[in-house]
Amino acid sequence: MPYQEDFAVEQFMDKYETNVKYNMGETCCYSLSLDDIEKLSGNKFNLDSSMRLTYRDIKGSDELRDMIAAVHGKELTRDNVLVSNGAIASNYLLYYTLVGKGDHVICIDPAYSQLYSVPAMFGAEVDLLKLEKDNGYIPNLDTLASLIKPNTKLIIINNPNNPLGSVIPNSIMKDICNLCAEHDIYLHSDEVYRPLFHSLPEGFDIPDSACNMYSKAIVTCSMSKAYSVAGIRLGWMITQDKQVLRDAASRRDYNTISVSVVDDRIAQYVLSNANYIIERNMKLCKENYKFLTNFISKHQEDFEYIGTPQGGTVCLLKIKKVKDTYPFAEFLATEYGLLAVPGEAFNFPGTLRIGYGNSIEDLAGGLPILKEATDAWLLKNA
Ligand SMILES: Cc1ncc(COP(=O)(O)O)c(C=O)c1O
Repeated sequence: MPYQEDFAVEQFMDKYETNVKYNMGETCCYSLSLDDIEKLSGNKFNLDSSMRLTYRDIKGSDELRDMIAAVHGKELTRDNVLVSNGAIASNYLLYYTLVGKGDHVICIDPAYSQLYSVPAMFGAEVDLLKLEKDNGYIPNLDTLASLIKPNTKLIIINNPNNPLGSVIPNSIMKDICNLCAEHDIYLHSDEVYRPLFHSLPEGFDIPDSACNMYSKAIVTCSMSKAYSVAGIRLGWMITQDKQVLRDAASRRDYNTISVSVVDDRIAQYVLSNANYIIERNMKLCKENYKFLTNFISKHQEDFEYIGTPQGGTVCLLKIKKVKDTYPFAEFLATEYGLLAVPGEAFNFPGTLRIGYGNSIEDLAGGLPILKEATDAWLLKNA
């Protein structure tokens, strides 16, 4: 059996998520029910109860794949889309399809660790491209170019970034795509937080989806974060490269067959009301992010953002006086009923990943507790 390291972030979340009072570990915009979506949009969800519950459309229904192609805009169609059980399954499937022994892969760091640990499990040699403060925590092109080897097959990015919330501007994305084209390298862009570009500076263009920018870019995305329906487990892969899509579909036959038809129908309903949901979630993220920023500026002696979050639902918060944030995060969860993910899960000790897209009650209730618990931890460990 190939070695697979533990998925630290998912294991930490799973251990504490259901027992805490305040969840600041959540990465989804505060999740919605079908009733909530009906209230937001005025449109009712109807499931045709006469629909026979067969496997149905293996790649995802035509209607759903049309809608997904439209989300990414431009020229792509349903033939460029393959549906999966969340983006996590598309990411896994992509690595299962593209990389193995003898291949070299470059992945940004920090990142959702699936993005580098699964290619390594499939036998690829993985180099991490450290995102640095001096570059605003986005990829530096010269450093990226210096990591390329003759056998580099895949470069992996995440835009907006989990855990930093940094956003790669279109100009840098174009440079990355050109570099990939020059060396004939696939580009995987995990865009699961798209289109939550809620706090871009003035004059910053809305980032385009990488699948529109490069013929060998493969984008993965899902309904979990920006659409607030992680529970339907519906994600996708979208690319101009139909050979990659065919190869991925062929491998997917072995572990998926199809995604639930009920989830497919709910996803269609959600996407047909996407304008209401995205408007709600952009507002939620913007306001909660301001609330968090305000809290940090009042407690600068204790807390500081790593970089400047501009999109998505998460950020890394430096806990200035605490080095070992793993035991601190456990203390927060067990003694204070507050969930925040330790930066150690992202190779970034001394920080906590804060998810601010959850309800304002989680944030407004959790932040004063974070301050109180920090003081208590420092006293305890003085
Ligand atoms: C960067 C990134 N990619 C993929 C996923 C998986 O999300 P899902 O499978 O719910 O679409 C997550 C979840 O946290 C994530 O942060």
